[in-house]
Amino acid sequence: MKVSRLIFLSLFALSLFGCSYDSENDFLDGSDDPGDPDVLVNYTDDVQPIIQNACIGCHASPPVNGAPFALVNFSQVNQRANGIISRISLQSGSAGAMPPSGRLPQATIDKVQQWINDGKLEN
Ligand code: HEC
Repeated sequence: MKVSRLIFLSLFALSLFGCSYDSENDFLDGSDDPGDPDVLVNYTDDVQPIIQNACIGCHASPPVNGAPFALVNFSQVNQRANGIISRISLQSGSAGAMPPSGRLPQATIDKVQQWINDGKLEN
């Protein structure tokens, strides 16, 4: 009884520490290598998922809920990049802040800014 309990505990400990945490980071980041500062931010891996989560509920094609334009593809987002970064950088609740439901996490806003700094790459 005691031995089997010990084996169970060892297996449980293994299952906790056996998995590398890196894979979860890769998933959250969505890009090639989150630890590598040389990897440039691009639309397909980094920006499109943000827009899809937070913006296309209104900025769809065609736009709904009074949104003035669609943000569903690279060319639309690329063209509106400056407007996008200024609206998402506004404080929550201030007039024109996007998305209207509340400010995105700062790290997400930084990622969009980094995409612009990196030259607005498509992929
Ligand atoms: C709930 C609907 C809704 C969501 C979600 C939403 N928007 Fe908007 N957006 C609007 C509406 C309505 C307007 C027009 C009123 C205004 O300019 O504030 C607008 C305007 C804008 C404008 C300015 C348009 C112009 O004329 O220059 C930008 C840029 C923008 N949105 C970007 C975004 C981004 C980026 C997201 C996601 C982070 C987002 N929006 C999410 C409804 C939405």
